[in-house]
Amino acid sequence: MSDETAALDELARRRGFYFQANSAYGGVAGFYVYGPQGATLKANLEEAWRDRFVRREGHQEIESPDIMPEVVFEASGHLAGFDDMILECPECGASHRADHLVEDGTGIEEAESIPPEEVQEIVADRGLTCPSCGAPLSGQPVEEFNLMFGTNIGPGSSSPGYLRPETAQGMFVEFPRLKEYARGQLPFGVAQIGKAYRNEISPRRSLVRVREFTQAELEHFVDPERDEPPIERVADVELPLYPADEQQAEDGGQVTMTVREAVDRGVIGLPWIAYYLGVAKGWYERIGVDMDRFRYRQHLAGERAHYAADCWDAETEVGGNWIEVTGFATRADYDLRKHAEHSGEEFTVFRPYDEPITVERPTVDPDMSYLGPEFGGAAGDVADALERLAETDPDAFEGETVTVEADGESDVVPVEVTGFAVEEVTENGEHVRPHVIEPSFGVGRIVYTVLAHACREDTVDGETRTYLALPPELAPTTVGVFPLMDKDGLGERAREIAADLRRAGLSVAHDESGAIGRRYRRQDEIGTPFCVTVDYDTLDDDTVTVRERDTTAQVRVAADDLAATLASLRAGDLAVDDL
Ligand code: GLY
Repeated sequence: MSDETAALDELARRRGFYFQANSAYGGVAGFYVYGPQGATLKANLEEAWRDRFVRREGHQEIESPDIMPEVVFEASGHLAGFDDMILECPECGASHRADHLVEDGTGIEEAESIPPEEVQEIVADRGLTCPSCGAPLSGQPVEEFNLMFGTNIGPGSSSPGYLRPETAQGMFVEFPRLKEYARGQLPFGVAQIGKAYRNEISPRRSLVRVREFTQAELEHFVDPERDEPPIERVADVELPLYPADEQQAEDGGQVTMTVREAVDRGVIGLPWIAYYLGVAKGWYERIGVDMDRFRYRQHLAGERAHYAADCWDAETEVGGNWIEVTGFATRADYDLRKHAEHSGEEFTVFRPYDEPITVERPTVDPDMSYLGPEFGGAAGDVADALERLAETDPDAFEGETVTVEADGESDVVPVEVTGFAVEEVTENGEHVRPHVIEPSFGVGRIVYTVLAHACREDTVDGETRTYLALPPELAPTTVGVFPLMDKDGLGERAREIAADLRRAGLSVAHDESGAIGRRYRRQDEIGTPFCVTVDYDTLDDDTVTVRERDTTAQVRVAADDLAATLASLRAGDLAVDDL
């Protein structure tokens, strides 16, 4: 563990941001509690996400169940293919993620994209050993391990279910109803913030790889032929990109270009992805991600999820490691097609033509009094084969006989008994299966990044101070209210002011214990952006001191204006310098 991550985990535990769950029973790897500070920080972050990716984009939010029946994951491909590579130590029995062993033991990057047989060879060739007991792992099989947590729905085992490994499936499965709410018109976006579950082989790096976590996912359903993103809104945003070809080139590296350039030069193949990378960059800046420790990395071909046609990750650097905090995937029509196939429901929208069109439609109406005696039990299959042939190759009906394949046999049928005809029909539109663009955010990993990137140290009054430079919008507490001392009515006035601020909807910490400097430090350490001090001048003129966390600058503000001023500072409509 690096110094940075160790210090972060220690601060998080001490100040109530996050800590390992179930510690009374020894703890269980991969499960975390967000403490009083962390739960509020996370809720504020989710609200900032909702603001940017739901409300401002005009999308809709839903909440679907965490447990879904097996058939959903048969259709989605998770049952067959949502696997990681597992390798078991022959000595101590510890299970390891084989690709992580390779990355840690060899420096090879993105070993997830390497096939299991090759990973097994690398483990043997490089003489990798068990991180738990040191035993050699050469020759141990590398196998696929499905990451879903299974359960039974209701008593008995007749109705298996799974805890969802992504919130996305809830939005795909409900598409037939969701499209009605969108009045059947593309494009539209549906978002969801909720828990997802993955039975990770080796959870690690505190909030980074956990077994239960929160996702904020947006599924943007678009017409692949007609819908274009409003790229002009983000055309000039500079993107730090690490494309797949740069990752594979010997002297490759990161390239920076605008959204417009990335689209025009084909560096990002799909403009919708480029659009969301542009939107998201502004959002990461807003929530305090350090742009010197941030990049967008394209997935290598072998690394992509089974449903993704292309994918770019937003990655942040913490403690010397790059962490995937968001995946921007092109899922094309994969999920809707699979759910249509498995459920028999319509997962399309109707796209009307500007004008109705008349088309010729070949049809058949076979004479079953001929097919029955001639083909016996295969007559129905012959009739179906004739219907398919009419659709795919109407010219085949131009001769005297037509040949179809049914029940593994070639059957010759006189054209006159097929009832073949070409009808003219009027069509008003067509059914289109939308494509899906999916920005999928790992909320816990973003909380972790924001905390790591907000940690600062400076010197105030000759003492080292640690503070969290959290954006006011995210800070768990917006304002600390302190009486200079609890006498001469100062304590009472401070309590009144704190109550007024709470009534105005602000998150307030009221603290009257210890020296004022210590009270400031306590708030600095949890990232409280403003502190209000009630002093003897307050009793004279009803003004208070507002102190800003990062600069420690102080200004006096009338108590009557305090709630509105702090609300504007929190919303970013006002800066302390403007006061
Ligand atoms: N929905 C994308 C993911 O879970 O990674």
